[in-house]
Amino acid sequence: MSLPEPHHPPLALTPDELLSTTRAVRRRLDVSRPVPREVLLDCTRLAQQAPSGRNRQRWDFLFVTDPDRRRALADLWRRGLTSPAAPRSHDGPSRHDYTAEAGWPAIADSLRHLVDILDQVPVLLVPCIQVGSRAELDDPATQAGTWGSVLPATWSFMLAARSRGLGTVWTTPHLSHEREAAALLGLPYDRTVQCALIPIAWTIGTHFRPARRVPVTEVVHWDHW
Ligand SMILES: Cc1cc2nc3c(=O)[nH]c(=O)nc-3n(C[C@H](O)[C@H](O)[C@H](O)COP(=O)(O)O)c2cc1C
Repeated sequence: MSLPEPHHPPLALTPDELLSTTRAVRRRLDVSRPVPREVLLDCTRLAQQAPSGRNRQRWDFLFVTDPDRRRALADLWRRGLTSPAAPRSHDGPSRHDYTAEAGWPAIADSLRHLVDILDQVPVLLVPCIQVGSRAELDDPATQAGTWGSVLPATWSFMLAARSRGLGTVWTTPHLSHEREAAALLGLPYDRTVQCALIPIAWTIGTHFRPARRVPVTEVVHWDHW
């Protein structure tokens, strides 16, 4: 079988270029240009090709495009950023201090821009996974199967979006208020777990560079740790 012809011509990127230039886009999200549903559906068709545990494909993508709902979701996201329960991404083990070009301050600066524009971003994607019960998230081994059955599809979506000139950024602050977000979006909270909130917009310009990372030898282990 083959997939339908794409509605938007893909950029001329090699697979390696696509994989090395799909950045977290915040400042270069063009909030003035609408994103057609057909392009989102094309990217979702590609995401559907990702692996999932026992091929159960129990994930769903909720695209929020209605301005009032986007505004309400953005408000929850902003509250999550400052919530005492919010995980602080610069705490704990990290390699970013010596990999990001200007370290955490540069990310924080671009994050502040996202805070300002979030409700104007034309599409907010909430990837979700269906669960038997939320107790599935208590056990790390089961949890690995749960997250592992939605995150590959989500990243595939983000790669497909980049290949068409759309920018995305993985974010999680609204999850500190997941129950309220579920009520806002009509999601069954007990059976559906939200895993991110991904703003989507056309990018301002299409050229992105590979990011600096630590030498690969620092992250690779052979045969033992
Ligand atoms: C689990 C996860 C959570 C993240 N949360 C946020 C977030 O809340 N806000 C944000 O602007 N970026 C967030 N990011 C994006 C990272 O900051 C970004 O991937 C990282 O700085 C590296 O930048 P790059 O993807 O452009 O290489 C998150 C990424 C991941 C994987």
